[in-house]
Amino acid sequence: MHTPLSNRLKNPNMTKPETQTDSQNHFLLDNHLPEIGLQAMREEVMEGLKDTPRCIPSKYFYDREGSALFEEITRLPEYYLSRTEKAILSTLWNKLAIDAHNLHIIELGSGDCSKIQLLLREIPANALSTVTYHPVDISSNVLKESAGKLTQQFPHLTVHGLVADFMHQIHLLPHAHKRLFCFFGSTIGNFGKSEINALMERLGTLMTNGDYLLLGLDMIKEIDVLEAAYNDKQGVTERFNKNMLKVVNELLGADFHPGLFNHRAFYNEENHRIEMHLDAREDMMVTFGFNNSTIEIKAGENIHTENSHKFDRGHIRNMGEMAGLSVGHVFTDPEEWFSLVLYSKQAVPKKPGGS
Ligand code: AVJ
Repeated sequence: MHTPLSNRLKNPNMTKPETQTDSQNHFLLDNHLPEIGLQAMREEVMEGLKDTPRCIPSKYFYDREGSALFEEITRLPEYYLSRTEKAILSTLWNKLAIDAHNLHIIELGSGDCSKIQLLLREIPANALSTVTYHPVDISSNVLKESAGKLTQQFPHLTVHGLVADFMHQIHLLPHAHKRLFCFFGSTIGNFGKSEINALMERLGTLMTNGDYLLLGLDMIKEIDVLEAAYNDKQGVTERFNKNMLKVVNELLGADFHPGLFNHRAFYNEENHRIEMHLDAREDMMVTFGFNNSTIEIKAGENIHTENSHKFDRGHIRNMGEMAGLSVGHVFTDPEEWFSLVLYSKQAVPKKPGGS
């Protein structure tokens, strides 16, 4: 078992974030990643690489190039997820029946902010000027760019972003009064089963009465459709998968040759998830500059780079129960390929006779 990253943070609560104000675009950005520290991130990757089976956490896909490749994936004909979710989001705001006045919208894994704008543009201008949007993302470059674009599109919106790893730094999320947490793209499906439960539990504990959670989930469907979405004809997903090795080279001073690996993605029916792997084509030695170590990888060995869990109505209920949240409504497309689930935190009914 790994030491959780959260146990290795340099004084987790006391460090001041690096705050940036963008004078041109009027938004604030707090960078909390330095509190995790480069060293802890390197050790996290190193431990995964030495594990059996070898693995690298999916969040390391997203450097500048990885984020650009992911955006390219979202435009692929096979990758139905983003398209389907955006179609649901584009008419969703009024159906949610949430009062926007003084609302704090907190989006986990905000990326290019292309989804939140579909909600924001449906909020009347007088209410929108009282809304604060808090994008939370692991990539500060991506966050800076997207927050800048968003403030240009919505000049009266207050934007206060957070560069953080929300799995380990959930305590940093704003403690405002009326909050709508958004977690789109089925990104929660990238975590393991126990991490999904832990995250839901933590979110549920963090939320107070009147807070909402809008969760985007990719649904279980025919295997052919699922597998095609992760094995596109143009090979963009393959490039996205291999780019992770470049991220690791950069972060750990390693010398992986992405060309020595094959992209492999398949649906694991038992665990309801797409798995992505990088399979070694030949024996190789990989060296790591940051700690002067080497590992030997044999032909046929694989590095597990991603799980992408798929969900059904039962999972939606269980996740709510796990978090102590009630399921308000499941918004979905006619084929039920993708769902946006509105959870809410409600007052705990008093036990009869209790005080
Ligand atoms: C980040 C969860 C939306 O799992 O589908 C896309 C990332 N991986 N193609 C997913 C991804 C391969 C993606 N999400």
